[in-house]
Amino acid sequence: MLRHLALIMDGNGRWAKQRLKPRIFGHKEGAKKLREITEFCAKSGIQYLSLYAFSTENWKRPKAEVEYLMNLLGEYLIREKTTYLRSNIIFKSIGDISALSEELQQKIQSLEAQTQEQCNGMTQILALNYGAKDELRRAFVRLMEGGIAPNEPNQLSEQDISCALDTSKIPEVDMLVRTGGEMRLSNFLLWQSAYAELFFTQTLWPSFSVEELEAMMVEFHQRERRFGGL
Ligand code: IPE
Ligand code: IPE
Ligand code: MG
Repeated sequence: MLRHLALIMDGNGRWAKQRLKPRIFGHKEGAKKLREITEFCAKSGIQYLSLYAFSTENWKRPKAEVEYLMNLLGEYLIREKTTYLRSNIIFKSIGDISALSEELQQKIQSLEAQTQEQCNGMTQILALNYGAKDELRRAFVRLMEGGIAPNEPNQLSEQDISCALDTSKIPEVDMLVRTGGEMRLSNFLLWQSAYAELFFTQTLWPSFSVEELEAMMVEFHQRERRFGGL
């Protein structure tokens, strides 16, 4: 069953470059694609859709690009509120948002609260200042500081760790798609994707389509998932 789909939205900059436009043009187009794919997934019965929007490593980019991405996010959170409510989508962020501006944090929390109250359909999980290693680090801090870990260290279970992650209560990733041609995970949902079916496409994110995703979903259902068994 396809309960949780994760998407690494990569290739915005190259898409723009191919069109002799600045990289930010690709990010703007990418945000439009994000809405289109999200609405499709909500209709197709997927319960959880995780999207990699900004990694803990993306701060290394030029200041102007980072600023543009942050502004784009702010606009997106306001503009797309109607999309979430209309399509019955619950919004949730993962990653360390404490590094974002107060204003952005407030917009994120407000959209989370409002959609949680009014919607009960698909959950869209936006990874913002997210890195799987940082998420695990924060989970271990939580476990050690919060006394969540059992008194006997060896009693610590995989379940305890799963619950301390940003994705606690969200099932593991079934299918992981990366656009943009790179064959790597770039620090996205490493723990949660332990048994995910992986899909890579050369298509750059702004050119990605519902049709291509549908074709991948057909293939997903044809794959045999053994989880180590026979
Ligand atoms: C993905 O597109 C979006 C973010 C990482 C924010 P890129 O900006 O990485 O685009 P390419 O990979 O350079 O083409
Ligand atoms: C991964 O893309 C992060 C996001 C899509 C948000 P990157 O473009 O940052 O990844 P690398 O640097 O090619 O691994
Ligand atoms: Mg990239």
